[in-house]
Amino acid sequence: MIIACGGWTAAGANAGPAELAGTAACVTCHRDKVSTYGATGMSNALEAAATCDILKSHPKLEFRDGKYSYEITRQGDGSTYEVSDGEKKLTVPIRWAFGLGQAGQTYLFQIDGSWYESRVSFFNEIQRLDITIGAQTEKPRTLVEAAGEVLNRKQESECFGCHSTGGVHQGSVEAATLVPGIQCENCHGSGARHVQALKTGDTANFAMPKLSAMTTEEMSDFCGRCHRTWAQIAANGVRGVVNVRFQPYRLTNSKCYDAADPRIRCVACHNPHEGRVRETSYYDSKCLACHGAGRSRATTAARVAKMCPAAKRDCVTCHMPKVDLPGAHHRFSDHEIRIARKNDPYPD
Ligand code: HEC
Ligand code: HEC
Ligand code: HEC
Ligand code: HEC
Ligand code: HEC
Ligand code: HEC
Ligand code: HEC
Repeated sequence: MIIACGGWTAAGANAGPAELAGTAACVTCHRDKVSTYGATGMSNALEAAATCDILKSHPKLEFRDGKYSYEITRQGDGSTYEVSDGEKKLTVPIRWAFGLGQAGQTYLFQIDGSWYESRVSFFNEIQRLDITIGAQTEKPRTLVEAAGEVLNRKQESECFGCHSTGGVHQGSVEAATLVPGIQCENCHGSGARHVQALKTGDTANFAMPKLSAMTTEEMSDFCGRCHRTWAQIAANGVRGVVNVRFQPYRLTNSKCYDAADPRIRCVACHNPHEGRVRETSYYDSKCLACHGAGRSRATTAARVAKMCPAAKRDCVTCHMPKVDLPGAHHRFSDHEIRIARKNDPYPD
């Protein structure tokens, strides 16, 4: 079981097309998108230890769990992961940091050619290490188990498939072609022909697939390739608050969701080329696009007063409550839009 990232893996996640032009090849013509995208979580969903800001700014991280002690130490351009049971010590270099760390960051290292996921992760809210989400209940019997969980080939390719671009071919991770993070072509498909066509004036091969033409349902499934689809969560029976991080599932369950209405597409509220907006007032117009409809002459306040007896702004603070995911040290915004009364059970 993959533990850092939601409790189980998705089938079919891939790391983008085999033939990549690379994000640098888009900059001359799509400068605005390339420049905003570079700072997003998705763009930085995977980082080499050498360039990872969290590892650089926290040169020594320590943690203890029972007889096991953990240390992540910066040394030159790299970081080492050291686990001790009081008698023996295991020291390995950290290869990859998974996640920009908006909620948390988990580390991957290798022992005898196999990939391992670190048993401890860095959590943004507490600014220190704690047990990786999902691993809390596991009782390590050996030093290696205390260091982390070994990934089989399928898990390996899925982890890299959702967090990087161009590095998974026929179910195997290929370090030589892997580009960290979710790059333009992971979503848009190969841009190689597009770029070449622009150079040579070959109009037949110019067009990129039009992602804006996707319906609401197609968009949920498209983003759900990594964020998980409604069908995957329904079939896997992930119930209770642990499913709050699977936005396509939560959103589809809400009364606001209409598979054909573009006003409730993921991109109605999120520009995939920019980090998510954290000001709650930004989302008011998104809600009012539906809830205010049909009374265009009334002022915004008057329309909302009719529709919501409780408040006129900052809709998401009450109707998309932030839910604490145990062990994640992070509160996820519940995409099941609803009247959320205190003491109501979490609807799953
Ligand atoms: C030499 C200039 C140039 C380069 C380089 C370039 N593009 Fe484009 N791209 C264009 C032009 C021109 C359009 C059409 C613009 C329009 O229709 O508004 C376009 C359109 C697109 C579209 C829109 C598809 C749609 O209609 O929704 C996407 C997606 C796209 N490019 C992605 C990329 C990616 C990814 C790269 C890098 C791998 C890239 N482009 C490199 C010039 C370029
Ligand atoms: C290839 C996998 C993949 C696809 C496809 C994908 N995402 Fe993501 N997304 C991620 C990962 C991984 C993260 C976590 C990044 C991090 O913080 O390290 C993320 C984070 C996010 C965030 C929070 C990031 C922030 O900067 O605040 C939003 C919002 C988001 N995705 C929206 C979308 C939308 C909308 C789509 C579809 C248009 C989409 N994603 C498609 C993998 C993906
Ligand atoms: C099916 C796609 C998928 C797989 C497989 C996957 N992830 Fe993720 N991961 C995501 C998405 C989407 C997010 C953002 C939403 C969230 O936090 O749940 C994310 C977020 C994260 C975060 C938090 C990032 C942040 O900025 O807070 C970490 C850490 C992480 N993943 C680690 C891993 C590790 C380690 C593996 C493999 C052992 C893995 N993930 C496998 C899709 C995936
Ligand atoms: C997480 C998936 C994702 C990533 C990564 C991504 N895009 Fe997009 N892009 C989309 C979606 C979805 C749309 C359609 C948006 C809409 O319908 O509002 C889009 C639309 C576009 C368009 C056409 C519409 C417009 O706004 O002009 C261009 C051009 C484009 N993207 C270029 C890029 C470039 C360049 C990068 C890399 C810097 C990139 N995209 C990265 C998902 C993505
Ligand atoms: C695509 C249109 C659409 C959008 C966008 C939308 N809603 Fe809705 N919403 C609906 C519809 C339709 C219903 C169901 C009305 C009914 O059943 O009477 C609904 C129901 C609701 C309800 C009542 C739910 C319940 O449990 O009874 C609340 C609260 C709500 N919406 C708030 C919001 C908020 C807040 C936003 C923005 C974050 C939003 N909606 C965005 C269409 C939308
Ligand atoms: C302070 C919390 C709060 C905020 C902010 C808020 N609401 Fe509400 N909303 C409620 C509560 C509580 C109810 C249920 C009222 C009742 O049934 O007595 C409700 C009810 C609703 C309903 C269902 C009405 C019905 O008759 O079924 C809709 C739709 C709605 N709100 C939309 C919105 C929108 C849109 C916004 C932002 C413009 C918003 N709300 C802001 C707390 C809030
Ligand atoms: C009606 C508006 C709306 C729609 C539609 C919507 N989101 Fe969100 N999303 C939000 C809000 C509000 C937040 C919280 C922003 C904040 O406070 O940081 C959020 C946060 C997120 C996050 C960050 C996770 C967290 O809570 O830390 C991800 C990932 C995400 N959305 C993905 C998606 C995906 C995928 C879809 C489509 C299935 C989607 N969203 C549709 C409003 C929306």
